Amino acid sequence: MIKSIGPKKLKTSVFISGNGSNLKSLIRFSKTKGSPINIIFVISNNKKAKGLFFSKKKNIETKTYSFKKSNIAEIRILKDLRKRRVNLICLAGFMKILSKNFIKRFKGKIINIHPSLLPKYKGLNTHERVIYNKEKYSGCTVHLVNSKLDSGKIIMQKKVKLRKNENSKKLAKRILKEEHILYPKAIRKLVSNL
Ligand code: GAR
Repeated sequence: MIKSIGPKKLKTSVFISGNGSNLKSLIRFSKTKGSPINIIFVISNNKKAKGLFFSKKKNIETKTYSFKKSNIAEIRILKDLRKRRVNLICLAGFMKILSKNFIKRFKGKIINIHPSLLPKYKGLNTHERVIYNKEKYSGCTVHLVNSKLDSGKIIMQKKVKLRKNENSKKLAKRILKEEHILYPKAIRKLVSNL
């Protein structure tokens, strides 16, 4: 579990692969009064990830790691996280699966946001599958990361009602908006429960 932080903010690293809209919302959150996190390091497996440019603009250190050999990438990342004394990792649209060993090293300190009401619709193409199955509701979940994909303890969820004839793109957009609200709330909850 995350150790008591007292008045100190959690040194946070955000892992991204693409757009980084959740990263943006977390950066915004980190700058609000009384926020429990300080984002000091943004990591990506993709040097073209839009979120990297945004982070640089906000003077946050960024680094890209090649995942051709994921075990080597993880060793490098672990070393860099330790050096910076990172004590919270937020996965935000990070599309690589971290190894058991990596997760063990940061046990209880890695959280993820997923665009479904877990435990339903783990993995990819969630919105397409939700629509195909004619679900009435979908949503998003923030959870602790364990060694099984999208399976750790749920911290918070937000339910979203599907609209008539809604396509996956529109649903994804509506859920993403909710993600931007849910992720900061879930971090507050996690930290207040320490
Ligand atoms: C978000 O919808 C996030 O929940 C999802 O990727 C999107 C990233 O958007 N994550 C996963 O599917 C992880 N399994 P963003 O880059 O704009 O934050």
